[in-house]
Amino acid sequence: MTAAEFTGCTCKHPALWFSALTADDDGAWADLALVSGSGCFVRDVLGREYLDARSALWSTALGYSNQRIMTAIARQLQELPAAQIIRHDQPTQIALDYASRLAGVLPSNLRHVRLCTTGAQAAEGAVLLSRFIRIGEGHPERSEVLALWDGYHGIAGLAGSLTGERPLHEVLAPLCPGVRHVPAGDIGAFRSAVDRIGAGRLSAVIMEPVLGTDVQQLAPGYLREVQDLCQAADIHFILDEVTTGFGRTGSLTVAGQLGLEPDMLLLSKALTSGYAALSAIAVTHDVLERALGVPAGVFPHGSTADGLPLAVAAAMAVLDELADGSVLANVADRGAQLTSAFAGRIGNSAVRSVHGPGLMIAVGLADGDGQPLAAQAMHHVKQCLRAAGLLVSISSSFVLVTPPLILTATEADLLMDRFDRGLASATAP
Ligand SMILES: Cc1ncc(COP(=O)(O)O)c(C=O)c1O
Repeated sequence: MTAAEFTGCTCKHPALWFSALTADDDGAWADLALVSGSGCFVRDVLGREYLDARSALWSTALGYSNQRIMTAIARQLQELPAAQIIRHDQPTQIALDYASRLAGVLPSNLRHVRLCTTGAQAAEGAVLLSRFIRIGEGHPERSEVLALWDGYHGIAGLAGSLTGERPLHEVLAPLCPGVRHVPAGDIGAFRSAVDRIGAGRLSAVIMEPVLGTDVQQLAPGYLREVQDLCQAADIHFILDEVTTGFGRTGSLTVAGQLGLEPDMLLLSKALTSGYAALSAIAVTHDVLERALGVPAGVFPHGSTADGLPLAVAAAMAVLDELADGSVLANVADRGAQLTSAFAGRIGNSAVRSVHGPGLMIAVGLADGDGQPLAAQAMHHVKQCLRAAGLLVSISSSFVLVTPPLILTATEADLLMDRFDRGLASATAP
């Protein structure tokens, strides 16, 4: 179908303005539009099948045909298809039940859950909640937030400012005030920033335990030191597990795995396996009590679609799916299988390195001189991998491999076959 047929006008662009659309677009996307999915695979409009090693956007953790989630959504559709939880004094029963269950599987200091819709909204909500408490306690000057360079917390007003990507800052300018960034993983830089800003002006610190950008894993010791410093100075420690939460690294949360006790923990993406939009801000009893004690009253944050029953039903089913631990065990096994397979290619191909926990794998590529592949070459690799039936994301000179957590050993072998084929065609003279 031509763009003109899509839009019904002579403009060469489709009615849908999607992110990859460019001014000189040649319409090549038209044959690639996805129409169906099953397990770890998706199919395009021409019937070609792809192994989705990007899990949509790291969200379809349980693949595209999870019967338990689909049944739960269908059942909820019959019972109470729509509702809202940000106004009035009548929450839904399913949201009450889900919050209890979710709190029950998170680190034990996180006892209460606020449901939102997107990851960016959760990140913004956590920071605004921290500042709301400061204002309520008579310290409005305590509004600064410390985040990490190269960290990602979404694209929205405040979320875009929390995100530490310099090129993004240039186009999102002017940024929200009161957000500072420090290099990730450098405890000296972190301490100096806290000293420079002053603990009395810092409301919160926000970071991902594994930065999705280039899959940069923060050392457990660094995270503990940050947490200790925050606790000592009553700075809210916000851990963004939108990407790592619910299995991607082989545990339900990195906080739980490392015994961390953040004041707030953010979840989204795999929470519903991507079947519906839902995010969560899990908070401590202390945070809730202090927020409820604010004389101004209700914390002003939320959107109409927060905690929609269909999304919560999907999330409840995801909890059921993960309950016996087999999916998490599979992440460890398949992660080890893929990591060692990629490691075996180092030196024999453009593969230069492999790193990352569980099924959050970054494969570094280099040219014949050992130089990291440039952006254009990486884009070509991505297209060649797709032509070989493998969908991946790319970040600087890394191919990011984040397949559904239910990937089987045979499918992991298939992933490697397609990777080899795609990379060979991308690097052929
Ligand atoms: C760590 C992290 N936080 C927040 C977000 C933002 O989530 P959303 O795209 O749902 O707004 C993302 C999205 O990729 C993320 O990876």
